[in-house]
Amino acid sequence: ETVDGGGGVLLPGFVDLHTHLREPGREDTETIETGSAAAALGGYTAVFAMANTDPVADTAVLTDHVWRRGQAVGLVDVHPVGAVTVGLQGTQLAELGAMADGDAHVKMFSDDGKCVHDPLLMRRALEYARGLGVLIAQHAEEPRLTVGAIAHEGPNAARLGLAGWPRSAEESIVARDAILARDAGGRVHICHASTAGTVELLRWAKAQGIAITAEVTPHHLLLDDSRLATYDAVNKVNPPLREDSDCVALRAALAEGVIDCVATDHAPHAEQEKCCEFAAARPGMLGLQTALSVIAATMVADGALDWRGVARVMSERPAAIVGLPDQGRPIAVGEPANLTVVDPDATWTVDASALASRSANTPFDSMTLPARVVATVLRGRVTAIDGEVRAR
Ligand code: NCD
Ligand code: ZN
Ligand code: ZN
Ligand code: ZN
Repeated sequence: ETVDGGGGVLLPGFVDLHTHLREPGREDTETIETGSAAAALGGYTAVFAMANTDPVADTAVLTDHVWRRGQAVGLVDVHPVGAVTVGLQGTQLAELGAMADGDAHVKMFSDDGKCVHDPLLMRRALEYARGLGVLIAQHAEEPRLTVGAIAHEGPNAARLGLAGWPRSAEESIVARDAILARDAGGRVHICHASTAGTVELLRWAKAQGIAITAEVTPHHLLLDDSRLATYDAVNKVNPPLREDSDCVALRAALAEGVIDCVATDHAPHAEQEKCCEFAAARPGMLGLQTALSVIAATMVADGALDWRGVARVMSERPAAIVGLPDQGRPIAVGEPANLTVVDPDATWTVDASALASRSANTPFDSMTLPARVVATVLRGRVTAIDGEVRAR
């Protein structure tokens, strides 16, 4: 199949370092198959599937299963993220080596869903990961600071009386793990950076030569806590939507490279988990099919990034962070490649019910957004074209 990319922008296939696919455990909200379709339609050729499944992905048996299932679906490379710790309490290191050496070649381990409270355990994880040449992804939350009714500091959230995940919960753990990475020599990747203070900590840590990288989500670049005024739980997410001044700082940091890349934190939830009272609703929002357009709206439209910059933050940097071979290097004529074709002049209106995801919890429903993915190519094979998935 050939793609007529006339007038389009040709980019390397996007790489998402942070996707929740809910398989195993919550296949009613997303599966590797439905999430892969959403990824292909969003221009992705690789996604990193987070470990907070049920059961948690803390063994090579499970991470290898996720990898093989993704390959069987064949729409996108589904790289499993392993859990840093094992067991419900998460007080013991998982067998990172077995997961790294399995068929899945796990490249990144996360404490998503099972925060590493104990700094000594985190230090040992960084040391173990260093020896394996893999990455520890910090979900960037000190949960002991979110317990109780601490409202996060945004003026809107505070006025509305919403409890949340305060800046201190994020910034204290970023500072802790930057310093632990410095002394353990391992590499730490900060998930979903959301505050201006985190940007300053990243700037400091990078200036010290600490091996730290960070991602930001499209929703934290575009949306602020004024969205919370309706108490619509579609806007409930971890970390919470913050102030407009945070959005501004995050955009500048992404343009500058202090924040390395965009990651969706695609987090499908069932309707009944989102249509309840705000306090009872699950946090998280969809992201795979809207990411490129939200980046176009927040970064490209005002010249903060050109399309070369989009290739950097959505493909080359995330691929380099996890050490995906071949992504972003020049390709020879005739060589199978991972590519995304974007129409930069298109606009489209998001329809939550029309997304390929099994869930519909997008905060961008009914928004008209710029730029659209026209086609996605995985190793020379078209996986999505003109809004339709091409199964093998
Ligand atoms: C994520 C989820 O639903 O799994 N939710 C979220 O609000 N981001 C978990 C997470 O990444 O914190
Ligand atoms: Zn946590
Ligand atoms: Zn998270
Ligand atoms: Zn997440």
